[in-house]
Amino acid sequence: MRKIAIIGGTGIYSPEALNGFEQKIVETPYGQALCNIGHMAGNQVIFITRHGVGHKTPPHKVNYRANIWALKSLGTEEIFATTAVGSLNPEMKAGHFVVCDNVLDFTKSRINTFYDTPERGVVHADFSYPYCPALREKVIKCLEKTDISFHKHGVYVATEGPRFESAAEIKMFAMLGGDVVGMTNMPEAILAREAEMCYTNCSIVTNMAAGISPTPLSHSEVVEAMGRSIQNMEKLITAFIAYNEPAEASCGCHEALKEFGGFKL
Ligand code: HPA
Repeated sequence: MRKIAIIGGTGIYSPEALNGFEQKIVETPYGQALCNIGHMAGNQVIFITRHGVGHKTPPHKVNYRANIWALKSLGTEEIFATTAVGSLNPEMKAGHFVVCDNVLDFTKSRINTFYDTPERGVVHADFSYPYCPALREKVIKCLEKTDISFHKHGVYVATEGPRFESAAEIKMFAMLGGDVVGMTNMPEAILAREAEMCYTNCSIVTNMAAGISPTPLSHSEVVEAMGRSIQNMEKLITAFIAYNEPAEASCGCHEALKEFGGFKL
């Protein structure tokens, strides 16, 4: 049995398939996390709505540490996270899915580690490749069986938000090699790495980024575009949960902190 978590970003709040899941408030040293727990395709599945019920929590206020800690304490091994993104890359158009393979982190105010107290000590996790290669492979294999337009590679630029970016910032991110821009993949990805869980992302392009888009950006544009992709994302999530074959790629996510004696709850 796999122990899978889905972290649903903007627009991905309550997949149909979750009907009958048990809602549980999990207490963590960082606060509470609301988890929906159930079983699908022979696997334990936990669903977390990143922005909370009714999309009330902005990206810079999401309790990333509580969410990841809660998932770890429930035994999660694999995390599949969805995010809405703007695109800097003309090949990546609205409605396309991007299985990102690297990150540029421009967040500013967020606590990005579990290791910031004398009790927990000092840890420097390897983050050369932020996303688990084995989980990325599974997502790509699932996408290949659909008619969804997708990209196997992409660099995710994480911005602080909650404002959208300026046109000059987007120009800079593109020069640095960014492909898509969003506000939530960091610190989620590094916390999952510290907690020694496999983590992957599938981004949904909802708009061309600031200055590339011919019109000013709006949240309603993002939500409406997500609405058009929800069915595809639910299809992908369901296929991912049911994909019980082992990946060809191997990963060291489960021993990411070996050098430091492993992650401890
Ligand atoms: N910028 C940042 N986050 C986003 C965007 C964007 O253009 N679109 C969807 N999420």
